[in-house]
Amino acid sequence: MKVLALNGSPRSDGMSKSKIMLNALVEGMREAGAEVDVVDLREKKIRTCRGCMCCWTTTPGVCAIKDDMTAELFPKWLEADLAVYAFPLYHFTINADMKAFIERTLPVLQPFFISVGNETLHPLRHKHPRVAFLSVAGFPEHSVFDQLSSWVRFLYGRFGILAAEIYRPMAEALTTPSLRHKAAEILDATRRAGMEIVEQGTVSDETVSRITRDMHDDPRLFLQAGDMMWKTCIREGVTVREFHEKGLVPRPENPGEFMTLMRAAFVPEAAQDINAVIQFDFSGRHEGSYRLIMENGAIQAAEGAAESPGLTIRSDFDLWMDILCNRADGQQMFLEQKYTARGDLALLTRMKELFGG
Ligand SMILES: Cc1cc2nc3c(=O)[nH]c(=O)nc-3n(C[C@H](O)[C@H](O)[C@H](O)COP(=O)(O)O)c2cc1C
Repeated sequence: MKVLALNGSPRSDGMSKSKIMLNALVEGMREAGAEVDVVDLREKKIRTCRGCMCCWTTTPGVCAIKDDMTAELFPKWLEADLAVYAFPLYHFTINADMKAFIERTLPVLQPFFISVGNETLHPLRHKHPRVAFLSVAGFPEHSVFDQLSSWVRFLYGRFGILAAEIYRPMAEALTTPSLRHKAAEILDATRRAGMEIVEQGTVSDETVSRITRDMHDDPRLFLQAGDMMWKTCIREGVTVREFHEKGLVPRPENPGEFMTLMRAAFVPEAAQDINAVIQFDFSGRHEGSYRLIMENGAIQAAEGAAESPGLTIRSDFDLWMDILCNRADGQQMFLEQKYTARGDLALLTRMKELFGG
């Protein structure tokens, strides 16, 4: 099987969640024996269709625009058995770069009108490759893909050339350190989907449900942590890319936000052996006791002191936020007794592992 796999995200590798998912899909396709050509559309010059209809009149089957689409990509697309369209969901539909590519495949059609049942169609000039759609979105609800899927099914599903629809909501979480185990499972399922498309022509319901599974029991926590990241970017004057490159941490502004962030960052897989309470006695700008209760790989947060916490950290609130955000060295501050830790100090040394680094 010859596959042309297209990534329509304008983001570069490492930042693009479409590309992360596409890489996994392509890996599975190659494992199943397919010959896959991967193209990042952002590296190509593809102008939008200008509606001149030359491809239907003066130069039948050939677009009048001279760019990478005409010279390279359209011929490759025609030769492919399957085209994979991978792209981010923008404004609840296909993003502009990928839409521009699809609109430029117009020369595959002839201009004439034919009626099939109650519908008017244009006949094909050449064989149209089968298509698979892979899209990622920022929001956590699966319903964000409803409009896209309706369009995809209308355009391709009714002609029997739609191999698969793979949609991953809350895709920004694919690179969140605390969710790396879940991300690995989703990427493994996406690799499996690639194998299935090559071997069976489509993706099984079981694999789709593994790809679309919730990454967090409580997606609202992830959104709240996201808000803290946006506020940190605005405050620090950095882009999202710079935020990640500098290894910044969303900075909580009060103990409530701190507890939310800790719950969002908690790594259940790292805490299977831990049944303990970590208590924070904050002083300074925000005074009060707060506790994180870890039990059987789950975490809860509560206000107030515990009867017998496993570990008690007593610190100025802002100092602890500086340590959390790598603005102060936790070990150094401990040695200088800027904060104190009583109880199971092994828990203190495991904090990074338990809370996603
Ligand atoms: C212009 C723009 C519009 C977006 N619209 C939506 C949207 O309608 N729904 C949604 O869930 N996410 C939306 N997002 C978020 C992206 O889909 C999300 O961040 C995705 O993971 C980006 O994929 P990429 O890293 O491959 O570019 C939008 C992002 C941008 C930049």
